[in-house]
Amino acid sequence: MPIRGNSLISIQQLNSQDLETIFKTAQFFKARFQKYRRIDDRVQAEDKAQKVVTTIFAEPSTRTRLSFEMACARLGVKCLGLEDLNSSSVVKGETLEDTFRNVLAMQPDALIVRYGQHLDVDQMLEAGVGCPVISGGIGASEHPTQALLDAMTIEEHFGSVKNQRVLLVGDILHSRVANSNMFLLKKLGAEVGYCTPDEFVPQKSEWKEARRFANLKEGFQWATTVMGLRMQKERHAGDANMSIDGYRDQFRISKEHLPHLDPKGLIMHPGPVMIGVDFTPEVLGDSRCKVLDQVTNGVYLRAAVIAEVLQLKVVMS
Ligand code: CP
Repeated sequence: MPIRGNSLISIQQLNSQDLETIFKTAQFFKARFQKYRRIDDRVQAEDKAQKVVTTIFAEPSTRTRLSFEMACARLGVKCLGLEDLNSSSVVKGETLEDTFRNVLAMQPDALIVRYGQHLDVDQMLEAGVGCPVISGGIGASEHPTQALLDAMTIEEHFGSVKNQRVLLVGDILHSRVANSNMFLLKKLGAEVGYCTPDEFVPQKSEWKEARRFANLKEGFQWATTVMGLRMQKERHAGDANMSIDGYRDQFRISKEHLPHLDPKGLIMHPGPVMIGVDFTPEVLGDSRCKVLDQVTNGVYLRAAVIAEVLQLKVVMS
């Protein structure tokens, strides 16, 4: 199913044409904004004037929620958010599923969602809800727009994702970012490797072919791009015994690892970065570290996705 006019729940939905359109539109928006400080004038007014997007973020977020809102604002599309469920009727006992039903009954033109594990909501969204739904990260399964903005950042740095060697470091097992990246990077022709403690080795079949590195030094010597990931403590639920101290000793990316990465290489992290656990401060200060470029790209990438699902006409001239 092409993305235009439809939902984006999984990165696996996107075909090559969708990917080409999204990256081309995102790059156009970014370049256009850098030159003219606006992009709304390239999105046809009659298409967007009455569009209203709503958000439901049932898990915390800084980058994803605000960049979707920023993207809507830049496009000239209204965005109304239900971001803090503690100030919603969930605190009175309404279920998340019913919250979704009630927000959808207001007939938004698209819904942007983030939530943890919730089978009822998964099934409701899969069945279709009368408007496109964009995932802003669901449970430990997927975070498709994060993978798209990561690929945009890699392409921007190297000219192409194809043939890059991307090392994922950290809590792969519980990372929705890692899962979406795994699919997308492979589809775009990159090789994926990972470095993680035994407790966090991914179990899904898609990871079987990925190369596992015993230590960070070996991984850094192999990779053109290193992507750190946060330890997802909130998803461990007693199934991960690794202490933060034990993890930090072996898997924190620090000054001593930096010389092993290609001088023209790339260091990324989807955020939030746990400084002192994922990275030491020197890593964030390294000239190859493009964490904030990822955040910038997230606005334009998400604007491109919103334009596609709302079927807005973007005039690229
Ligand atoms: N990368 C990411 O999803 O960040 P937030 O949790 O702040 O949205």
